[in-house]
Amino acid sequence: MPLSKRFTLTQYLIGERRRFPDASGDFNALILDVALACKAIARAVAFGELGGVLGNHDADVGGSVNVQGETQKKLDVLSNEYFVRLNQWGGHLAGMASEEMEDPSQIPAGNPRGKYLLVFDPLDGSSNIDVNVSVGSIFSILRAPQEVVDSGRDVLEADFFQPGASQAAAGYALYGPTTMLVLSVGNGVAGFTLDPNLGEFMLTHPNLQIPVETQEFAINASNSRFWEAPVTRYVDECLAGKTGPRGKDFNMRWIASMVAEAHRILMRGGVFLYPRDNKDASKPGRLRLLYEANPIGFIMEQAGGRASTGRQPMLGVQPTSLHQRIGLVFGSKNEVERIERYHAEPVRMDSETPLFAERSLFRD
Ligand code: AHG
Ligand code: MN
Ligand code: MN
Repeated sequence: MPLSKRFTLTQYLIGERRRFPDASGDFNALILDVALACKAIARAVAFGELGGVLGNHDADVGGSVNVQGETQKKLDVLSNEYFVRLNQWGGHLAGMASEEMEDPSQIPAGNPRGKYLLVFDPLDGSSNIDVNVSVGSIFSILRAPQEVVDSGRDVLEADFFQPGASQAAAGYALYGPTTMLVLSVGNGVAGFTLDPNLGEFMLTHPNLQIPVETQEFAINASNSRFWEAPVTRYVDECLAGKTGPRGKDFNMRWIASMVAEAHRILMRGGVFLYPRDNKDASKPGRLRLLYEANPIGFIMEQAGGRASTGRQPMLGVQPTSLHQRIGLVFGSKNEVERIERYHAEPVRMDSETPLFAERSLFRD
């Protein structure tokens, strides 16, 4: 095999660290631990039925549900274990939080504690596991509050309540036809492809940029009767195509693995919406702020795209709970800005639009 001229993930991280001569190396070591967890999950996913990893967790005792009230797949639980086990030893973390754990996970007594917090969705799109469609892992790295680092105390939920703009790094791994790791350490976005022979992530997609214009959107249309008026307006205009106000035809995609939609959008542009809707008043959106919307939002913005609730930039939202849900719109900048404009516009009084269609008088 000819020796690859490409950089490995480790080399990329060393190159990034050279910009900060005082850096301790903890941050890079942490990202390599995360990458190792992703490689372990990629192997488990690849064995599928052969590895006995498909289906629901604890199916023989009626199944288990996570804090979200969702049925856990075997691979949800296994992936969570890989993340916890491979990241609690290195001494870089003060604590962790995950979609699959109700409370923050503490670093075991006897292990050194560090200055970062790791938040993750160990397996995103897990409804797709049993049908062999791409799934992925999403992670966000925050700085632990100084008082936590100084005291070495256990982490509390509130220690994680930091707006997305303060993430030190974020990324995802995608377990698709190839396994990829996409990462931002706050200096653009780089994509790495797993070389299955070497077991190394190789830099294949340096400096990713999202096209600002697009003709592709992604939304679960089965929820359309619950949408708010600005979302209905946006989708109607896309569907109207060349003969409508947009004057061009749009294509539609829905994988139901947000991480895979994010990757498609990063590669060729597009817009993704899982907006706040009226389906269930107790759930302001489907996706979770801390381990889905914020890390994907960080990647989008670092690649020249945009992420929003529809009403405000996603990365400015102040979290108030660990498993908080939120309406999410991300992708090509011009489309996301258009959707934000539709949310901000006052009620339209023209003959086509009923008086209260744009915004109900009773909502912000
Ligand atoms: P998770 O598997 O981590 O619970 O997340 C699934 C999410 C997301 O990946 C996807 O975009 C969305 O749920 C799909 O929702 P629908 O089932 O409404 O299509
Ligand atoms: Mn998810
Ligand atoms: Mn998940």
